[in-house]
Amino acid sequence: MPRTNNIINPSRSLSSPTNRLSLISRHLVAHEPLNTPYSTERLPDTVDTSLLPQTPVRRSSTASTTMSSQPEHPTLLIPGPIEFDDAVLQSMSHFSESHVGPSFVNTFGETLSMLRKLFQTTDPSAQPFVISGSGTLGWDIVASNLVEPGEDVLVLSTGYFSDGFADCLAVYGAKVTEIKAPVGSRPQLPEIEKALSEKKYKMITVTHVDTSTGVLSELEKLSQLVQRVSPETLLVVDGVCSVAVEEIKFDEWKLDGVVTASQKAIGCPAGLSISMFSGKAVQAFKNRKTPPTSYFASFKNWMPIMQNYEAKKPSYFATPSPQLVHALHTALSQILARPLEERFRKHREASDRIKQAVADLGLKQVASNPADQAHGMTAIYLPETVKGADLLPKLGAKGVIFAGGIHKEIVAKYIRFGHMGVSVLNPERGHIEKAIKALTDGLAECGYQKA
Ligand SMILES: Cc1ncc(COP(=O)(O)O)c(C=O)c1O
Repeated sequence: MPRTNNIINPSRSLSSPTNRLSLISRHLVAHEPLNTPYSTERLPDTVDTSLLPQTPVRRSSTASTTMSSQPEHPTLLIPGPIEFDDAVLQSMSHFSESHVGPSFVNTFGETLSMLRKLFQTTDPSAQPFVISGSGTLGWDIVASNLVEPGEDVLVLSTGYFSDGFADCLAVYGAKVTEIKAPVGSRPQLPEIEKALSEKKYKMITVTHVDTSTGVLSELEKLSQLVQRVSPETLLVVDGVCSVAVEEIKFDEWKLDGVVTASQKAIGCPAGLSISMFSGKAVQAFKNRKTPPTSYFASFKNWMPIMQNYEAKKPSYFATPSPQLVHALHTALSQILARPLEERFRKHREASDRIKQAVADLGLKQVASNPADQAHGMTAIYLPETVKGADLLPKLGAKGVIFAGGIHKEIVAKYIRFGHMGVSVLNPERGHIEKAIKALTDGLAECGYQKA
C-alpha cells in the first residue's frame, strides 16, 4: 500500500509510480521484493539475499593502466569530459544485468560507500546520491529539495556556472541574491559577511571552481564565516570541476551539499550526477512545509533508493545506468587505491608547471590572483593579435583539443586548458608536455612572439 505523508501525496492515476512499476516490473524475478520510494521505508528487511540467484560478477581490472591502448585520437584537454583510463572505459562494456539484481545492487552499494571516502565524510547522517544525468541535475536537486519557493539564497558568483546555478534556483522559486565578483576574481569574505548579517539566508552556494574562469573559491574560510555569522544557513558547493582534484573535507568543513558529475576529475564518462548532502541538509528537506518542486530530482523519491542500494537491497525508483555505474565503480576504486592527498598534490604540481609555462609564453590567466587559481584547469587570455578561432584548429592539427571561452564578457579573448585525471597522473602519456608544445608552436604559427 502506498503511504502518504504531508509532503507527498502520490496520485493514484494510471501514471502514478506504483502503477507504472507494476507495468514495467514483469521482467523481475517474482520472489525478489523490490523497494520503491513508495515502499522502502515500509518494507522490513526480510530479504535474505544469499538465497537469491547470483549473477556472475564480471569485473574489469581496476588497476590503472599508465599507457592507453585506446585507438589513436586527439588528446582531449578541455575542462571535462577528460581523457579516460582504459579500465574505466572497459567496465562500460559490461554485459546487461538487471538493475535490481544482487550483483548490480552490490556494485552500486559499493560505489556509494566509496563516495563517502572521496568526500572525506564518515558521518552516517551524510547521504550520497548517484543519479543519471549531467552536472546540471545537481543544481535541480539542490533547488527543488533544499529551498522552498520564496526563501532567500545567497549565490557567490565567479562566472558563468555560478550564474547558471543562480538561474536554476530562481526557476524553482528561490529569491536569489548574487554577489558577483569581477571576472577573474572571487567574492571577498567581508562582503559575504555583510550580506549574511543583513538577511537570513536559507542557503549560500559557492562554485568551488568556476569552469568558465578557472577561479578557485576557498571553502574552509567561507565555512568558518558561515558558522560564525549565520550557522543555520546551508552551505552548498558546486564541485563539478573540483571534486577529485581539489581537496574537499565534507565533515571537517561542515559542508551541507556538494554536487558534481562523472566526467571531470572523477574520470568516468558523462551521464552521472553525483552528490553528497549532510544530515542537516536532509533535515532541512524533511522540515519542508511544501512538497519538493521536482519529481525526478526529488529526495523523497531517491533517498530510500540510495540507502537501500548502500545496504545492498534491491530498489527501484527510475532505471539507473548499470554500465555507467560500473565505470564509476572502477574510477573510484582507482582513485581510492592511492592516498587522496597524493592525488591533490600531483594535480597542484602539474598545474604549477602549466601556469609557469603560460607565464613564460608571456600570457596572463583569467584568474589573476595565484591563490584563486584552480588546479585542474587554466583559463588563458590570448594575445591581442591572436584569435581563438585561428589558434584552436592549429592545436587540433597537433593532436590537442583545448576549449574556447564561455564567459560572455570575455568569450573571444581566452581559451581553456583542462588538466585532470590520467593526463596528470599518468605522465607516461605525455599529455601535458604535448599540450604546452602545441600551444607554443600554435601561437608562433599565429604570428605571436613574446614581447
Ligand atoms: C562548475 C560547473 N557546474 C556545472 C556544470 C554543468 O555540468 P553539466 O555540463 O555536466 O551539466 C559544469 C559543466 O561544465 C561546470 O563546470
